[in-house]
Amino acid sequence: MGKLWSGRFDKESSSLLDEFNASLPFDKKLYKQDIKGSTAHAKMLARQGILSKDEYKSIKNGLKAIQKEIEAGKFEFKIKDEDIHMAIESRLTENIGDAGKKLHTARSRNDQVALDFRLYVLENSTDISKSLKKVIKTILKISKKHTDTLIPGMTHLQHAQPLNFAFHLLAYAQMFKRDIERFESSIKRNNISPIGCAALAGTPHNIDRDFTAKELGFKFPSGNCLDTVSDRDFALEILFNIATMFMHISRLCEELILWSSYEFKFITFSDEYSTGSSIMPQKKNPDVAELLRGKSGRVYGNLISLMTVMKGLPLAYNKDTQEDKEGVFDSVETSMISLKILNESLKTMQIHKDNMDKATKVGHLSATDLADYLVQKNIVSFRDAHFITGKVVNLADKLDKDMSELNIKELQKIDKRIEKDVLSFLNLRNSMNARNSFGGTSTKSTKKQLKEFKKWLKQGSK
Ligand code: ARG
Repeated sequence: MGKLWSGRFDKESSSLLDEFNASLPFDKKLYKQDIKGSTAHAKMLARQGILSKDEYKSIKNGLKAIQKEIEAGKFEFKIKDEDIHMAIESRLTENIGDAGKKLHTARSRNDQVALDFRLYVLENSTDISKSLKKVIKTILKISKKHTDTLIPGMTHLQHAQPLNFAFHLLAYAQMFKRDIERFESSIKRNNISPIGCAALAGTPHNIDRDFTAKELGFKFPSGNCLDTVSDRDFALEILFNIATMFMHISRLCEELILWSSYEFKFITFSDEYSTGSSIMPQKKNPDVAELLRGKSGRVYGNLISLMTVMKGLPLAYNKDTQEDKEGVFDSVETSMISLKILNESLKTMQIHKDNMDKATKVGHLSATDLADYLVQKNIVSFRDAHFITGKVVNLADKLDKDMSELNIKELQKIDKRIEKDVLSFLNLRNSMNARNSFGGTSTKSTKKQLKEFKKWLKQGSK
């Protein structure tokens, strides 16, 4: 059979054009969504009396058979068919005859592709959110055991104040929670059905778009056909949501990489999720975390690429839009495998509590506590307290001690007004627990944060 649109042409298209123009090699991924959409459309046409019941039945069964054929690897994808929409329609007509030719009544490939791709994006947004939730659950599980594990908190990658390890991990759980909320809000916003918009202007046929919308699980039919067939905001949103999620993953991975180095030795990745070197026998490399960090490059690229494709397009459908799919497929597939391996790596890594603890003993993490002590005791203003504490830091450095290890005599050398009770302020665990303000690092506050997360997870799964 010739091309479905070949009526007005005298000559066959060149095979070079076919190769260049076709989206079939990649949009065949959308076969399920295409069949689902066509079945719903045919059902609506039959309800409206546009198709007979028998025609609907034979279309429905014909589409089912094609799905089986595709899934059994027996469907012959022909580049001449151009895309998955025409490939399926041609095969349907080949198999069931004239009824197949009626399926395209009151629709166009423009609303068809908008539907298929939107369904794909919505389904995968849900799947990615679910996978990301698993990562959060793992983080919570680890955190539960480490609300009292000291770790140096950093700013500028310099020791700042003592934290507990759970508090540190929960910062990432917050990022991932925002990511999930972003996916969810995109799903909500884009939950509208494009089918029935036809080429750009709607259709003179007496169709029922509310019915197809419901049948396909959408909230409503879209409100303006011209917008709907050219809108790719839903695709941009998933790309942005994925890009932001990878920005967070890459930050976590950067820390995991640092922590797995000999300089830190806070964690060790399990052998199953580490790699070796072809030349240096001693090496155990954090390839997984590095690759995850690196993947942000390609998913950012996919976002920028589609933003650029969409820029300046006149209404309505333009073939440029066919460039929307590969990047989204890539970002989605990258997300699915990445989240799985991130989760496994986190679950199986060893955590070296003692090394974390040791690391808090350098860098004068309780310096701010000394300054706060001097203020709270009404000894001096904060600015003067800062200066005095600086002198204490200087002394500690000269004595090759951490500030938390200074004795009262040494402290009083700098300022006589410092009393013995200061020692409990300089204690690192006390310092961590002193930050008990809402959202702070104290063990108590961290436990509250954990509880809030659990509540949120439960609400989400209802
Ligand atoms: N393969 C096309 C795409 O992916 C389908 C829509 C084609 N529409 C058209 N009028 N040529 O965008």
